[in-house]
Amino acid sequence: MTQAIAAPPRSESATLTKLISKEGGFEYDLKAINICENTFAPLEVAYDYDKIKDTVTRATIEAGPNSIWRYRPFLPVATDNVIDVGTGMTPLVKSTRLARRLGLKSLYIKNDAVNMPTLSFKDRVVSVALTRARELGFSTVSCASTGNLANSTAAIAAHAGLECCVFIPADLEAGKVLGTLIYNPTVMAVKGNYDQVNRLCSEVANTYGWGFVNINLRPYYSEGSKTLGYEVAEQLGWQLPDHIVAPLASGSLYTKIRKGFEEFVKVGLVEDKAVRYSGAQAEGCSPIAQAFKEGRDFVAPVKPNTIAKSIAIGNPADGLYALEQAKQTNGNIESVTDQEIIDGMKLLAETEGIFTETAGGTTIAVLKKLAEAGKINPDETTVAYITGNGLKTQEAVQGYIGEPLTIDAKLDSFEQAWKRAQTLDRLDWQQTF
Ligand SMILES: Cc1ncc(COP(=O)(O)O)c(C=O)c1O
Repeated sequence: MTQAIAAPPRSESATLTKLISKEGGFEYDLKAINICENTFAPLEVAYDYDKIKDTVTRATIEAGPNSIWRYRPFLPVATDNVIDVGTGMTPLVKSTRLARRLGLKSLYIKNDAVNMPTLSFKDRVVSVALTRARELGFSTVSCASTGNLANSTAAIAAHAGLECCVFIPADLEAGKVLGTLIYNPTVMAVKGNYDQVNRLCSEVANTYGWGFVNINLRPYYSEGSKTLGYEVAEQLGWQLPDHIVAPLASGSLYTKIRKGFEEFVKVGLVEDKAVRYSGAQAEGCSPIAQAFKEGRDFVAPVKPNTIAKSIAIGNPADGLYALEQAKQTNGNIESVTDQEIIDGMKLLAETEGIFTETAGGTTIAVLKKLAEAGKINPDETTVAYITGNGLKTQEAVQGYIGEPLTIDAKLDSFEQAWKRAQTLDRLDWQQTF
């Protein structure tokens, strides 16, 4: 058991008011709890939107820090002492070459492969969760992770001086494991898949006085993903896109992008617009896509088997809400094979110079599939969310990309090799653009 530390006082400018159950509207105090005791539904943070409307303008946001904390009035923290490690404000890249390949006229890539400090969108949710953990008096933090979350939790806990113990499936990619160990937390590699890790963590959370970012702190943690909506709206010149495509694991980030857009509309920062939300899953773990394709109104758990380990959640906590969102907004949820995921990673790298991990490969492969099927209108302003970095999942593309041409340190050796290189498909293909 860990002793809790004294919680700091609430700031005058704080806007969070309570937790509300997604089913039945039951209300709870702003404590470390994630499930409604009456309906077992997830809890959502509620805010004083009148106060936000009175104090927040485009100008106040633009004058804020170059990080997710420029949106602090929309985030579930009660003090001014936030953990700002430069997370957020990642590039929104206007695509030309990939867009042309897919026949789309207005495609953007939101590039969280270069998010700080650990190169995935998880730095957003963890910056928020650990700030809240500290406010609630936790001195030890933890998570159940498919890899990226462990990287973020370990790094940001190290920065904040919090004790950290993370839980991962034992078969994760080497880059994800190393990228956690370097921050020197305790790492528990569990012999089982993510859903088993998650179940174990729920038991640990009930027994130890720890702040689990995606269990007892989940209502706060998940709000960090709203910044993926705010940033895109701001970067598009204070307007919403027509269509977004995002990867789905638990379904949280997909639903929070929508919450972010809708909050901006609610407080008058952007004009209302019908946004379409499309989701991407790997065929080897596609419980939400299967439910969507079969027209079901429930998500049946599956056993994951895919190279896209970061999004391999067989029993997604927000799956049902993601399914409803796709249906309500005229979006689609598609799945792609492991080979299509690898091709998606290569396509994004070759056309835009962005090396994404398997989750991003899944998003690009689904984007391609939807575009080819006419399910994305070429004129729609479409944003594809790239949520993680390819350097962490190198195993996925090993054997599917070229080799360096090894030469002697002599001009004629170079010239021979260069002549040979001209005959390679790779160069032929590049010259067609
Ligand atoms: C790189 C990456 N993208 C997307 C996701 C999906 O996140 P969510 O569980 O919010 O659906 C994850 C989850 O771990 C991830 O690591």
